[in-house]
Amino acid sequence: MNVSMTVNNTSYERDVEPRTLLVDFLRDDLGLTGTNIGCDTSQCGACTVHIDGAAVKSCTVLAAQADGASITTIEGLSINGELHPMQRAFTEKHGLQCGFCTPGMIMTAVKLVESYPEPTEEQIRHGLEGNLCRCTGYQNIVQAVDEGARLTEAHSPFESTPAEHQITLREAERRAWERSRT
Ligand code: FES
Ligand code: FES
Repeated sequence: MNVSMTVNNTSYERDVEPRTLLVDFLRDDLGLTGTNIGCDTSQCGACTVHIDGAAVKSCTVLAAQADGASITTIEGLSINGELHPMQRAFTEKHGLQCGFCTPGMIMTAVKLVESYPEPTEEQIRHGLEGNLCRCTGYQNIVQAVDEGARLTEAHSPFESTPAEHQITLREAERRAWERSRT
């Protein structure tokens, strides 16, 4: 089947198997391998991307369900070669070790601070519950998100409109259904 979507501000149209997961489409068809597959069972959050402004685990969505959507992956976060403040914060606060979970963490964190521009530690830890890290013990990740919130506020080009920080598969399906009707 044919699907078309905008990914990182570029339009793509491809033929895919109906069963193709969005994460596989992004990695295999578009070569955007920054989005990782950690579990394939919607547990780890390594595959998190933004779909129409919401953080979604892309292993829970079929490419067909994202037909017509606007998607941002970790590769699309920077502007004119400048890292997104949340990316900088993860670097500066050492919010990673092996880095495998990091793209998903950052994609979730970006949406988290849109909902909570000055998040408490509790809000950060709660907001990251869907993202697992096997290396860091989370402390530096929490500090990185806190710093990322501060830096995001200070850098207006990266300021974004309020949005949900993570939506459910059911909500992603509802939106896909609505798009298919227009
Ligand atoms: S690969 Fe999608 S949640 Fe783990
Ligand atoms: S830094 Fe290795 S899994 Fe998180």
